[in-house]
Amino acid sequence: MIIARTIKQAGSFLARIRKEKMSVGLVPTMGALHRGHLSLIECCRSENAVTVVSIFVNPTQFNDPKDLKNYPRNLEKDISRLKESGCDMLFVPATRTIYPRPDLRIFDFGGLEHRMEGQFRPGHFNGVAQVVSRLFDIIKPDRAYFGKKDIQQLAIIRKLTAMQNSDVEIRACETLREDDGLAMSSRNVLLSAEQRENAAIINQTLREAVRKRGMTVDELKSWVADVINKNPLFELEYFEIVNSSDLQPVTDWAGGEDELVACIAVRTSQIRLIDNVFFHNFASL
Ligand code: PAF
Repeated sequence: MIIARTIKQAGSFLARIRKEKMSVGLVPTMGALHRGHLSLIECCRSENAVTVVSIFVNPTQFNDPKDLKNYPRNLEKDISRLKESGCDMLFVPATRTIYPRPDLRIFDFGGLEHRMEGQFRPGHFNGVAQVVSRLFDIIKPDRAYFGKKDIQQLAIIRKLTAMQNSDVEIRACETLREDDGLAMSSRNVLLSAEQRENAAIINQTLREAVRKRGMTVDELKSWVADVINKNPLFELEYFEIVNSSDLQPVTDWAGGEDELVACIAVRTSQIRLIDNVFFHNFASL
């Protein structure tokens, strides 16, 4: 596995690949790799001749400096996992490589950037768009891989590529879960034993919510808030039922349930956990 720290190092490896007309897939990450990332890499390897993984803890997407400081980092371990995963090139740039000067671009995603995650993390998606567009410019992948757990990020990145007339194909991969249903996330390592034990409530509540019949959307929202907030370790930030195509919230069931997704964010001390489930996966079970 090649480790590129500069644009020049990445460029000289990729130039050889391009010359041989091989396809390049990119898995952008912020490191602290877990099995969820490895499944993105697997997916990428199955569809591309060459797999590039980037590790960059992007400061512009953190609205809370404490969150940036506490974000788990473990480059040594990540490198050995990546070597085993079959990754061909790791791109691990310095901040000045990604942002040689402050990135002043403000993106307009038609309001999507301000809802759900955006409401609790102002500026977050602008930072995500900045770094992803920089990574796409540098790596010029044919395809890029993102997890469905971050469904709003996925929608923002799809909009970004459309707005920039980018040829990068955005591929969405399934959320990987721990045995108790908790969605895999780099932040899970920050949970105390007690928080981790209780965190299964998030996915359990979501799954139960999408099976509930006879409640209005508002009643369902209150039910979810009650269940989560009853646990003294957790506080509900939002629970929304949205259309999977545009992530617009729905207020009733008039359009049918098949295309709906239930999205949740829960806070436990300073740690935020998010998850979502598609109605079509669970409603009929
Ligand atoms: O999902 C993440 O890990 C990050 O938001 C991403 C896409 C790598 C951008 O920094």
